[in-house]
Amino acid sequence: MAQTPQMPRMHLMQMLIHSASTHTLMSWADPADGQLQGLQDFAYWQNLARTLERGCFDGVFFADSPATHAVYQGSVEPSVRYGASWPNHDPMPLVAVMAAATRHLGIGVTLSTTGTTPYLATRRLTTLNHLSGGRVGWNIVTGFSHAEHLANGMDRQMPHDERYDYADEFMAICYQLWDSVPVDAILADKAGGRFADPARIRPVDFKGKYLSCKAVGPVLPSPHGRPMLFQAGSSGRGMQFALEHAEVVFAIQPHLAGMRRSMTQLKDAAASHGRGRDPKMLFGLQPIVRSTEAEARRRAEELAERIPLDAILARMCGVFGMDLAGVDPDRPLAEMETQASRGLLAATTTGADGKSVTLRDAAAKWALSVAIPQLIGTPEQVADEMERIWRETGCYGFNLSPTTNPDSVDDFVDHVVPLLQRRGIFRSAYEGRNFRENLMA
Ligand SMILES: Cc1cc2nc3c(=O)[nH]c(=O)nc-3n(C[C@H](O)[C@H](O)[C@H](O)COP(=O)(O)O)c2cc1C
Repeated sequence: MAQTPQMPRMHLMQMLIHSASTHTLMSWADPADGQLQGLQDFAYWQNLARTLERGCFDGVFFADSPATHAVYQGSVEPSVRYGASWPNHDPMPLVAVMAAATRHLGIGVTLSTTGTTPYLATRRLTTLNHLSGGRVGWNIVTGFSHAEHLANGMDRQMPHDERYDYADEFMAICYQLWDSVPVDAILADKAGGRFADPARIRPVDFKGKYLSCKAVGPVLPSPHGRPMLFQAGSSGRGMQFALEHAEVVFAIQPHLAGMRRSMTQLKDAAASHGRGRDPKMLFGLQPIVRSTEAEARRRAEELAERIPLDAILARMCGVFGMDLAGVDPDRPLAEMETQASRGLLAATTTGADGKSVTLRDAAAKWALSVAIPQLIGTPEQVADEMERIWRETGCYGFNLSPTTNPDSVDDFVDHVVPLLQRRGIFRSAYEGRNFRENLMA
């Protein structure tokens, strides 16, 4: 396929999880996988970061389940037994670990507005943004998981839309904290012994419906601005929140029809939002690359075969916020209503034909990839399909989900990236100095 000169380039991020498994359940049990040992080893994450930087990726995206789901069968047992969304290691320290091993790679981290405060969130994220030279991103999530609330001592989980109202207020405080110390307030006058000019500081004194904050911005103003802001809610209220705050939006849609629908919904929402913000959407994809298509298909089957249904349901029920134990596997799922992740429930349950899928079909899609569509084949087939989806949907790029690590990342960077580069649709060198400059290029 010839490249159109004015065509922008595809952007790529790599999804990672600081846990024993990737999105592929039971990945820890595969002989090729090194992530379980990687939980004890800075070098594992630094090698992944260097490989991704060699592949000119825009960045990493750390998904995070901060607490263990106990929705399926009303128990943590299936989650713990299979290592499904458990253990819940904190991704934040890995931002520093991976940034220290690279110079260009952006590192986005999921941090929920439940269980922390705007002050602590901006302090941690901005400190890392300084140390990494502006390479930190924040995936703002509102805390769909009941377990996260219980773990943080809250018995009540706010209803779905109200969590976004709360998060709006959370962000209002973050912006004030980020703006609290203007660049010209910092004097660093060694001879005069004056560090900063207090008259130029804008103290924050915020009292809202849910939150309050009385503080001076805790960190220096960053020459790279605020951390990059991401968001991945795709309900109506979630999209409004994304348009208000996010520079780049993530979405999971299991098929091309869903991706097209999702692009239209986001564009329509942006038009009615009236801020003229051009929303940039990255869709999840899971490549499984081998030198022949038959080998790649065998690999996908091999990974799927060891996944018990209980492991799938432990994760799926946690994200949907409903116990599907005892539900007829051949019942269409779309009739369900949730206060947890509406976007992921809707994406999972709507087939390419617009009709509802059954629990059996949904579970099959969730086993390896949480309903992220898989590209299974040779490097050429994977590159072809990525280019086709990118051109047909007009999306900004992709957020790739590995199966086993680090071999998934190695395979993609060594065999697929060069093909995308040769086609002129993906960068061969970084454009900018920091995450925003590269991701927005
Ligand atoms: C690509 C993608 C990644 C996500 N990663 C996380 C995550 O790591 N942690 C989390 O709590 N929610 C995650 N979510 C869930 C959403 O951010 C959002 O909280 C959830 O879908 C509920 O919002 P909604 O009902 O508006 O869609 C992710 C969603 C998508 C599409």
